[in-house]
Amino acid sequence: MGDGHLWTAYEAAAATGGALCSRGGDAEDWPAEEWSAAGISIDTRSLKPGDIFVALRDARDGHEFLKNAFDAGAAAALVARAPETAPDGAPLLVVDDTLQGLRDLAAAARLRNFGKRIGVTGSAGKTSTKEILRAVLGAGGSVHAADRSFNNHWGVPLTLARLPMHADYGVFEIGMNHGGEITPLTKLVRPHAAIVTTVGAAHLEFFESIEGIAEAKAEIFLGLAPGGVAVLPLDNEYFPLLKKRAEEAGAAAFVTFGEKAGADFRLLDYKPAGAGARLRTSIKGEERGFDVGIPGKHQALNMLAALAAADAVGADLDRGIAALAGLEPAEGRGQRTVIEVDGGEAVLIDESYNANPSSMAASIGLLGAAAPGAGGRRIAVLGEMLELGPDAPALHASLAEALIEAKVDRVYAAGELMRHLWDALPEAMRALYAGSAVGLVGPVEDAVKSGDVVMIKGSNASKVSAVAKALSARAADRKRAS
Ligand SMILES: Nc1ncnc2c1ncn2[C@@H]1O[C@H](COP(=O)(O)OP(=O)(O)O)[C@@H](O)[C@H]1O
Ligand SMILES: [Mg+2]
Repeated sequence: MGDGHLWTAYEAAAATGGALCSRGGDAEDWPAEEWSAAGISIDTRSLKPGDIFVALRDARDGHEFLKNAFDAGAAAALVARAPETAPDGAPLLVVDDTLQGLRDLAAAARLRNFGKRIGVTGSAGKTSTKEILRAVLGAGGSVHAADRSFNNHWGVPLTLARLPMHADYGVFEIGMNHGGEITPLTKLVRPHAAIVTTVGAAHLEFFESIEGIAEAKAEIFLGLAPGGVAVLPLDNEYFPLLKKRAEEAGAAAFVTFGEKAGADFRLLDYKPAGAGARLRTSIKGEERGFDVGIPGKHQALNMLAALAAADAVGADLDRGIAALAGLEPAEGRGQRTVIEVDGGEAVLIDESYNANPSSMAASIGLLGAAAPGAGGRRIAVLGEMLELGPDAPALHASLAEALIEAKVDRVYAAGELMRHLWDALPEAMRALYAGSAVGLVGPVEDAVKSGDVVMIKGSNASKVSAVAKALSARAADRKRAS
């Protein structure tokens, strides 16, 4: 976060309607009304000196941690009550409901900032697109965005409440598990451009159909600022629905991205190049070729979505495109590492951050596009995709087709649901099935040979990242990209 001042006591009190006070003691050395905070934190473990600590009631009650917060250097605490655990004299801002207090700070942060805001939702690619936007917009101004996937009922208000007054751009990842969750978040952010990256089978557990997911994603348009632009995935089956909902929500304009003819930001050709790729595109009717630092056709499409949104809020396209060459994949999201193996080198593609059917298909495509070295093979190490509801077995089994199409040679699979894939695979592709991902670590380590390309993918909870960790410990250049 920025240096120095983000919130004074007076501004925070005015924004929340809360009362400035301190519990007990006399407040001479620590005046309740004269603090100023450099940041905001909801977790005392990551709180930085000078932050306001917001005592949320979530999994635990933040009020239990007031002492830790002030020990860590909190400038003040936003609380719903002043419990015994608050150190004597510590400055407090008392409101009825601390989550509402955080939302009030967020709304005030938005009102005092004259920059442009972009909201990003979708079944996959939200965080990737947020990071791409950070680079694209950063080429022409200051950008505020969360360091992590802060996309839920507290993550979005927290990110917005941290928006510096003079930031030129704010980028907000907005997620959901259920219908109705995006509406209040987008109405808080009021984006000038709203992106739906893609709609696919994520969280099917909580939805009757993918159409239901499309409806939920389309809620993002309900918060568009006046004159706001909807950025839509033209290739997606639910494009017409998304467009209709954006229209109904009053979007002032639509911009499309995709591979299909007619996309305003269109991908014409994708070729792997170095650690990244070379793209041929057509942008607003003009053909353009350029290099990008992150591999994957899906990432190329995220980039076109990001460019479309950046253009919609007035950012410079040439500079944005130039910035794409400098991108580096984040941990577990397509990061490539050359690893040392007996007699040579192999390539690890770490996609282990998370998985659902859309992102799984994208990662398998990435493996298919990768060229193994002499004598090398394409190896997929797969953990389960979770939260898919009753269709989960079929969705796992159907990966067999994609793996065959991508010319994958060997498949390592772990977890009960992956049984369904295992059973659907041709004998020759079956390397090993294990009940859990730990059972794959040793065997995969032993199996990788010179020239192999190994792609690792699964839901967070599948722990398949353990395989990626073990292999990346052998990074040839000892330099772990981050
Ligand atoms: N547009 C996309 N379509 C399909 N998969 C994608 C897309 N963008 C990213 N992915 C893959 O989805 C996984 C999660 O990406 P991430 O950007 O963290 O998405 P999110 O924040 O929506 O969960 C990664 O493995 C990534 O490679
Ligand atoms: Mg995310």
